[in-house]
Amino acid sequence: MGQIVINKDLAKAISDFQLPENLGFGNVMAPVMASCSYENGKWGPLELLPYGPITMYPTAKVLHYAQEIFEGMKAYRVNGKGPFIFRPEENHLRFNRSAERMAMPHVPYNIFMQAVLDVTAYSSNFVPRRTGESLYLRPFMFASEESLGIKPAEKFKFMVIASPSGSYFSGAGLSVYIERENARAFPGGTGFAKTGGNYAAGLAAAITTKNLGFVQTLWLDAVHKKYIEEMSGMNVFVVINNELHTSTLGDTILDGITRKSLITLAQDLGYKVVERKIDVDEMLADIKSGKCTEAFACGTAAIITPINYFGEANGDRYPLHYPDGKVSTILREKLLAIQEGREQDPYKWVTVV
Ligand code: COI
Repeated sequence: MGQIVINKDLAKAISDFQLPENLGFGNVMAPVMASCSYENGKWGPLELLPYGPITMYPTAKVLHYAQEIFEGMKAYRVNGKGPFIFRPEENHLRFNRSAERMAMPHVPYNIFMQAVLDVTAYSSNFVPRRTGESLYLRPFMFASEESLGIKPAEKFKFMVIASPSGSYFSGAGLSVYIERENARAFPGGTGFAKTGGNYAAGLAAAITTKNLGFVQTLWLDAVHKKYIEEMSGMNVFVVINNELHTSTLGDTILDGITRKSLITLAQDLGYKVVERKIDVDEMLADIKSGKCTEAFACGTAAIITPINYFGEANGDRYPLHYPDGKVSTILREKLLAIQEGREQDPYKWVTVV
């Protein structure tokens, strides 16, 4: 393990911190953050600091050319047990895959894990304890080099911040707008990487989505505008004839860790899981005919959130008529029970802090 520097004001920041009753998602920040700089081809010491502003020059490359990546992960402490972190090794692997696509250096496993574990350990008293709540961890890296030349930076900062959070979505289920004009990602692009630009590309559609009265945007493939890809920050599953169907991964879709975990859990619970190209119009026909009974969003932030209906700009709506004993409810309960340490973890997915 490399050198760790602990800021002298950190203990005071932690003792002064009060966890508010109403959390929301990503609004309240834990009083500690980790930071590590990369220069001259190597990583420096990992620093633990009070959460607060950071300084950078207006020429920092990230501000102009968006050389930036991030991860989303969660620590759980339901009923005071834990904290438990869910599959952090997977986040580390994906972080470095994103780094390669964005011409950034790998963050070594030891630095990534030490930063995540230390931020969680120092925030341990602020991990919310009600089921479905967690400490949302956000590792990220950006190009800090000061220069306006368009070329890969040589100076970077890796940081981890944390947010005691409740549900990502308020309300019971999602209304989802099918975006048929704009595209989020295209073959050969950065869609599979967790980089800010992919999320920025979805923001104009988020305004349309909201103005039309929906909560989430569903993206189709950029080439045919036909096949379902993902939503703006989470993967999608549909249940057809009691089988789970989800889009095949490729370079335009994020390889979700919740998606991957649900495939394993569903198969082990005896469900057939089909990864395929899902034609959006076929799916809508299956909803109309009653063959498709459920649809849900899944991701670290969203966990599993059921979709109430899909809709189009022309006003067409496709409501889902959920059966009793919903597959999405069964999977959500199973996943959360493992994540929160309420149930045996036969997969060794959980790391105890
Ligand atoms: C996550 O689920 O961690 C994400 O990055 C999605 C974002 C919408 C919060």
